[in-house]
Amino acid sequence: MRTVYVNGDYLPETEARVSIFDRGFLMADGVYEVTSVLGGKLIDFEGHAKRLQRSLGELDMPSPVDPGELLEIHRELVTRNDLEDGMIYLQITRGAPEDRDFAFPDPATTPATIVLFTQSKPGLADSPAAKKGIKVISIEDIRWGRRDIKTVQLLYPSMGKMMAKKAGADDAWMVEDGMVTEGTSNNAYIVKGNRIITRALSNDILHGITRAAVLRFAREAQMEVEERSFSIDEAKQADEAFITSASTFVMPVVEIDGVALGDGVPGRVSQRLREIYIDESRKAAV
Ligand code: PDD
Repeated sequence: MRTVYVNGDYLPETEARVSIFDRGFLMADGVYEVTSVLGGKLIDFEGHAKRLQRSLGELDMPSPVDPGELLEIHRELVTRNDLEDGMIYLQITRGAPEDRDFAFPDPATTPATIVLFTQSKPGLADSPAAKKGIKVISIEDIRWGRRDIKTVQLLYPSMGKMMAKKAGADDAWMVEDGMVTEGTSNNAYIVKGNRIITRALSNDILHGITRAAVLRFAREAQMEVEERSFSIDEAKQADEAFITSASTFVMPVVEIDGVALGDGVPGRVSQRLREIYIDESRKAAV
């Protein structure tokens, strides 16, 4: 049985409790982070901790923990759960006021709820999907306008994933005003020759922590990086495509809306970036 963390306590998962009045449950009034673990160490922890602070700040939620405590809790969960490879999920909500009310409760009387739990994924870095590549479909992006905040409002991304499954694909790329925003739970890229193209940062997409690292490694490896929007038609004609996220690292995309990219197998640039990202991240893991 897993040990989870709830509001200051480490508990067996069956004993962990959150109130039915919690605003995360009633209103999706909460933020989250996902940090991967490889070889018992945290990947890109500092980036995730910084983005968490930003998400909380944008929603006027005080942080229930400081960054030092946050690292300690993550490490303690790795130890207590013997986690070798997998993910740590962290959720912070605006807590559980006595009455349901649209107005935010006073944080002085309603403390935030903080929950962390682990998910084990042995062999996370050698996923078979990375060798085959994944298939994506395109769907309309009908999410709200602050996608830069990592909130727990994940209903549309879940629906998108189901639309992909129904169509025999693995994931969906969302499209707004004719241009790809991002994947249901990842950032989207295309490759033309030695050039990597990905949408520029704005409120339209999540500022991926993996994205920041991958673009840095790409530039260091003398690859060209172009941060601009692209359409699904441009993507279908690209040499390669891939996605990035904390749980998939760099994952090649081999088909978009039924159209195979290049030879229909993971491309050279995507594979190389995946290798570099995993190697460098393992070295820097804490
Ligand atoms: N998803 N875009 C969206 C909409 C995401 O949900 C995610 C992460 C990303 C990539 O961000 P990062 O590289 O920091 O993981 C982009 C996580 C993994 C999830 O919801 O499980």
